[in-house]
Amino acid sequence: MHDGSGRIAVQNLTKRFGAVTAVQNLSFTVEPGSVTGFLGPNGAGKTTTLRMLLGLVTPTAGTATINGRRHHELGNPARVVGSVLDNGSFHPKRTARNHLRVYAAAIGVPDQRVDELLGLVGLAPAADRKTGGFSLGMRQRLALATALLGDPQVLVLDEPANGLDPEGIAWLRNFLRSFAAQGRTVLVSSHLLSEVEQTIDQVVIVSAGMTRYYGSLENLRKSQQSRVLVQPADASALVTALREAGIDKVEPTSDGRVAVIDSTVQQIGDIAAKAGIAVYGMEEQKADLEQLFFQLTTPQYSGAPLPGQFMPQGAWGGAPQPYQQPQQPYQPQPYQQPGQQYPQQQYQQNYQQPGQGPQPNQGWGGQQ
Ligand SMILES: Nc1ncnc2c1ncn2[C@@H]1O[C@H](COP(=O)(O)OP(=O)(O)O)[C@@H](O)[C@H]1O
Ligand SMILES: [Mg+2]
Repeated sequence: MHDGSGRIAVQNLTKRFGAVTAVQNLSFTVEPGSVTGFLGPNGAGKTTTLRMLLGLVTPTAGTATINGRRHHELGNPARVVGSVLDNGSFHPKRTARNHLRVYAAAIGVPDQRVDELLGLVGLAPAADRKTGGFSLGMRQRLALATALLGDPQVLVLDEPANGLDPEGIAWLRNFLRSFAAQGRTVLVSSHLLSEVEQTIDQVVIVSAGMTRYYGSLENLRKSQQSRVLVQPADASALVTALREAGIDKVEPTSDGRVAVIDSTVQQIGDIAAKAGIAVYGMEEQKADLEQLFFQLTTPQYSGAPLPGQFMPQGAWGGAPQPYQQPQQPYQPQPYQQPGQQYPQQQYQQNYQQPGQGPQPNQGWGGQQ
């Protein structure tokens, strides 16, 4: 039997397509009750990794498991994992409702579930329209509804925000948070950090098939060094005073200021006062997360300063804490938002605790 944990485990996963190594020795785990972002630029190997997890591509080496099992070993996969990898593959002449009915029948789910899901993803008004005329956003919603038919414990989504309008992205964010708050597992890929930043707890950043960072977004944020720009009366005197005080990440800027890394405004102010140097102003700056993501995933920039940026050796430009394991087990924060569209209560009623394995067909839509 599978372990019912809802845990995704990727271990030393590698995939080569001829001369192309799409994925190289990738390892990470995704815990139930959390949303993990799988981030990297186009071509980084995200889709290939997800396809291996879902049993659609055979790994060259390593394993990808859900509940401790490979996909083909899951007894009733639709009940364990729902996925959206490709949102264009609907029969164009079939209506949304009929599409879902076909899939529902295939996995033994009653038809009421279809209408429930059409409502959930906001497609009820388009239920009887043929999918051939659907926008990309509508396809995304229909693909998500299909993935949810089996009331799965784990959700795997490849670039789900593509084609969604801002309202759709906000809805998806709330949906994924509340899904995870039920103790379920979410792995969601994106090539844009900003798109998923507010949704995810943990992040796996890949570039050229390799892990560049693995850990909490919070730790990634913390790893960003701040710098203080000081406007002193005498820049060279301040540089000397700071270095004498043991602060060596100091550099004069072209506009007569002094940039100091890894020191607080208070420390700098005290040293300046002690040395009798007048200070006319100090400005604290933080590298933005998007910039850090860009540095981590763009080979020509990793470890090197971006043009116009102050980045002393080893500061700012380096890849912070690569391959870092999460420091602590993830603590799920229950998602609460007034008026949210996700029928949380119903999910709570239907959802069985991890450890019990796939559930018989029960409770579908019976509560309304
Ligand atoms: N079936 C395939 N045959 C050959 N090369 C492939 C195949 N699938 C993916 N690749 C290559 O593997 C690399 C990673 O692709 P992919 O996993 O789609 O990245 P991502 O989803 O991060 O954009 C790319 O260089 C891509 O061209
Ligand atoms: Mg992809």
